[in-house]
Amino acid sequence: MERLLTMFEEADPFATWWPTIAALAVGVVITVRTLMSGQRCPNDNQINEQIVVVTGGNGGIGFEIAQALAGRGGRIILACRNLKAGERAAGIIKRELGCRTPIISPDEDDDPADRYFVEARYLDLCSLRSVHHFASQLMAEFERIDIVIHNAGVVFANTHVPTEDGFERHSQVNYLAPFLLTQLLLPHLRRSEQGRIVFVSAHAHQAAKIDFDDPLNVGTWAVKFHAREAFAHSKLCVLLATRWLARELKGTAVTVNCCTPGLVRGTRHFRNSPLMSSICVKAVTYPWMWLFMKNPYEGAQCAIRLATDPQLKEVTGEYFNDCEIVQSSEPGQDKELAKKLYMQTIRTLESVTKLTVDKELPLEMESELRLEAPPDAEADSDAETETNRAAEGASVDRQTLVE
Ligand SMILES: NC(=O)c1ccc[n+]([C@@H]2O[C@H](COP(=O)([O-])OP(=O)(O)OC[C@H]3O[C@@H](n4cnc5c(N)ncnc54)[C@H](OP(=O)(O)O)[C@@H]3O)[C@@H](O)[C@H]2O)c1
Repeated sequence: MERLLTMFEEADPFATWWPTIAALAVGVVITVRTLMSGQRCPNDNQINEQIVVVTGGNGGIGFEIAQALAGRGGRIILACRNLKAGERAAGIIKRELGCRTPIISPDEDDDPADRYFVEARYLDLCSLRSVHHFASQLMAEFERIDIVIHNAGVVFANTHVPTEDGFERHSQVNYLAPFLLTQLLLPHLRRSEQGRIVFVSAHAHQAAKIDFDDPLNVGTWAVKFHAREAFAHSKLCVLLATRWLARELKGTAVTVNCCTPGLVRGTRHFRNSPLMSSICVKAVTYPWMWLFMKNPYEGAQCAIRLATDPQLKEVTGEYFNDCEIVQSSEPGQDKELAKKLYMQTIRTLESVTKLTVDKELPLEMESELRLEAPPDAEADSDAETETNRAAEGASVDRQTLVE
């Protein structure tokens, strides 16, 4: 011990530059990591008994959003295309939250995990029929829905293989199906004291190409996008629809906002990327990703704030990054483009949903939309009854909105 103390006393840290260089390097790494990890949700408000739908909640950012909201008392429905993975995720969330819950009375033999409500339901956004079915089930089960978080998304999907509904995959999974789901759930959202819709977009929307005459890119002249461009286009559509839907919902208690999680590592987002599937690339890029990208928990913070912060009660139609409102790209602020896309989306979905635009009104006035039962609902009589009920609600709601 004495020898060690003497060594310390005799050591001269300035005899060499290495300790200073090492300290500086650690300082730079810590600073970069702190800056890149973004802002945390600035509150820990409870959302007791609020009914929350999180699409793609079985993994990645969606899992973190679901866990945080379940921990704040929300009743969480994980909408997943892989039901087994969804049920597994629900179990993990409940177990982890249960472990953190203090046991009030040791005599109680109930499992603290059971105090949390997290359940998985089947939803495949590649199928609009599945969207209808999911919405009908949910509306039959719950009297209202408080929060919908459209988190599920794909990138680098095969742009040459359309979905069963005939749409490009990025377009349908990232935009069209969430759009339809929102429309179907609106009557239930409007029953909430304060309904919130949160879309997860991406920085990539800034790189999107969009044609004003065919913003949805579905015409016969549609541009054939590369997967990366198709992703960017779908995320710009999400942003524009958020802007227009916010106008449609003006005067109601439902808000709609969209956010970017930033660049997030440790999720399966890039699973289809040819570059990122290579182990060599993964090994080389890992330290950089660790340094410059967020982890899923950090990526979830913005959506968590949008879903829970009472200060955002009246904030609608905005684009958020790192928990703050930020400017989007110029096309992302174009009201005419937003309206054009919104109307085209409804017309495009008409064949499968009977969502209709009754008449086109000038920009400053709200459009009048009607939502009717899906044409093939007879295949599922329960679904039909419920969707009809929803449709009636929607028509009435829409009329009230227009009035
Ligand atoms: N990670 C990033 O750097 C980044 C950057 C910008 C934006 N985002 C956005 O953030 C959101 C979450 O991404 P993530 O990083 O957490 O990626 P992820 O790990 O791949 O999670 C995506 C989720 O979406 C689900 N999903 C995909 N296709 C679906 C479909 N057809 N029907 C239903 N669910 C489907 C996935 O389900 P399966 O597990 O069954 O595949 C998964 O649960 C996405 O919208 C993404 O575009 C991410």
